[in-house]
Amino acid sequence: MAEEAVLGFLEKNEEIKNSGEFAVEKGISHEEIVNVIKSLNGSRFVDAQDIKKERWQLTAEGKTYAANGSPEFQLFMAVPPEGILRVELQKKLGDSVFKIGSQQAIKNKWVEMGKSQVSRKAAHVDDNVKAALVKINDREAPNQEDIDALKRRKLISPQVWKGYSVKKGPNYAPKRRKPATDLTRENLQSGEWKELQFKEYNFLAKGFPIEGGHLHALLKARIQFINISLNIPLILFEEMPTNNYVESSFWNFDALFQPQQHPARDSHDTFFLKEPSTTKMLPEDYVERVKQIHESGGHGSRGYVYDWKREEANKNLLRTHTTAVSSRMLYALAKKPFEAKRYYSIDRVFRNEAVDRTHLAEFHQIEGLICDRGLSLGDLQGVLHDFFSRLGMSNLRFKPAYNPYTEPSMEIFGYHEGLKKWVEVGNSGMFRPEMLRPMGLPEDVTVIAWGLSLERPTMILYGIDNIRDLFGHKVDLGLIKSNPICRIGL
Ligand code: PHE
Repeated sequence: MAEEAVLGFLEKNEEIKNSGEFAVEKGISHEEIVNVIKSLNGSRFVDAQDIKKERWQLTAEGKTYAANGSPEFQLFMAVPPEGILRVELQKKLGDSVFKIGSQQAIKNKWVEMGKSQVSRKAAHVDDNVKAALVKINDREAPNQEDIDALKRRKLISPQVWKGYSVKKGPNYAPKRRKPATDLTRENLQSGEWKELQFKEYNFLAKGFPIEGGHLHALLKARIQFINISLNIPLILFEEMPTNNYVESSFWNFDALFQPQQHPARDSHDTFFLKEPSTTKMLPEDYVERVKQIHESGGHGSRGYVYDWKREEANKNLLRTHTTAVSSRMLYALAKKPFEAKRYYSIDRVFRNEAVDRTHLAEFHQIEGLICDRGLSLGDLQGVLHDFFSRLGMSNLRFKPAYNPYTEPSMEIFGYHEGLKKWVEVGNSGMFRPEMLRPMGLPEDVTVIAWGLSLERPTMILYGIDNIRDLFGHKVDLGLIKSNPICRIGL
C-alpha cells in the first residue's frame, strides 16, 4: 500500500517534498512510509534526501497548561474583584498551581499579595502562555520570544524529526516487482525464467552458522591428559578398560584391602544396586586368599582380625573409584609370567555425595599406575613430577595420607601460579603387600599409583568455579559450543 502510494505519486509528480506531510495526506503512518522509502532507495527506484527538523514538543507540564490554562491565569481568575484570603486561595488552587501561579502573577503585576490578603492589580489579563502552547501543539510557528520563555519554564522541549524528500531514481518504475531469488522447476517449465528479474548475489552476506558436534570441555581436557600419559618419555602407558560402571564390592573394596566395616562402604557414601544386587562371578581361589588376608593377615601383616563376609563382597555398586579397575588389571597381570606394565584410565566414578559447587555425585578420575620390580617412593615422586610439570605445575609437595590400599600414601599438592596458592591435585601411594600378594604378584614387584579428578584441573583451565556449570544437566550448551581448545601447560 505504502509502496504503491510512493511510486504512484512519483509517476505523476516530480517530487515528494516531505515524507511527513505525504504520510498525513495518504493516511498512512509515517513509519511505514519511511520503511518503504528506505527500501526503494536501496534498490535505487527512488532517490531520497534526508530532512531533519527540530520541532518543539510540549512537556507533560506544558500539556496540562495547554489544557487548563497557565497557573498564573488560573490564579488571577480565582481572585475576585474584592480580593481573597491567601489561605483560601491556596486551598482553592492546590499547592503547586498556587506556588507557581503566584510567582508568575506577581512578576506580571497581575496581583498584589499581602501577608494574608490577595487582590487584583490588573483589570483584565490574557493567557499568552496557554495560547503559545496551543500554537506549538498545532505545529503553527510561534515567535522566538515565546519559545525562549516556554523553554526556560521547561514547558516545551526540542524534538528532532527525521523524514525524506523523494524523487525518481535511476531504476524507477511505477511498480516494483520483487526480484526472484530462486530458479524453480515451475518457472523453468513455463518459460517464465526468461523474463524474471533475479536478485543479485550478496557475496558479503554471512552464511548460516555450521551446526555440528562439539566436544565437551571435559573431553578436551581428557584428550590432553591421554596425550600426556602416552608421551612420558621412554615409557608407554596402556589404557585400562573402564567400561563397567557397575562393579562388585569385591573389586572395588575387598581386593583393595578395604575392611568391610569401613565407613566408605556404607550406603551413605556408595550407591548400591537394587537389581541385580549381587555379583554372580568372582575368582574363588583368589576370594579365599583375600578373605584370609582380611581375617588373619599373612606376608608379614596381622590383617584386620574380623569375620569377613562373602555376602558383603558380592554386593553390586557403582564404582567409587577407578582403582577398582586397577585391582582387576593387576590380578589379571599376576596370572601370567610377570611383565612390567604402565596403565592409565580416565573415566567416570560415583559417590553418594551432597551436591555443591565442588562436588557432584558422579565425576571423572584420572588413574595411573606402574608395576615393576623394585619401584620406590622416589620413583612415584619422580613420575608425578614429570606428569604434573606437563600440566604447568612443576612445584609439587607431598603430604602423608591414608588409604587402606596404599602404604605409604601421599596427597599431592601443586602450586598454582594463577591462583597463587597450593591446591590439592591428587592422591597417590604404593599398593600394599596385603593387596598385591594375594593376587600372586612376585614378592619383589611393587606398584606405584595415583589418582586425581578430571574436573578439578578442567575447572582451573577454563576458569569455571562451579562444577555444575561444567558437568550435569545444568550445563549451558552455549558454553560447550564455544569453549576454546584446551591447552594444558605452556
Ligand atoms: N582411589 C583414590 C581416590 O579415589 C586415588 C588413588 C589411586 C590413591 C591410586 C592412591 C593410589 O581418591
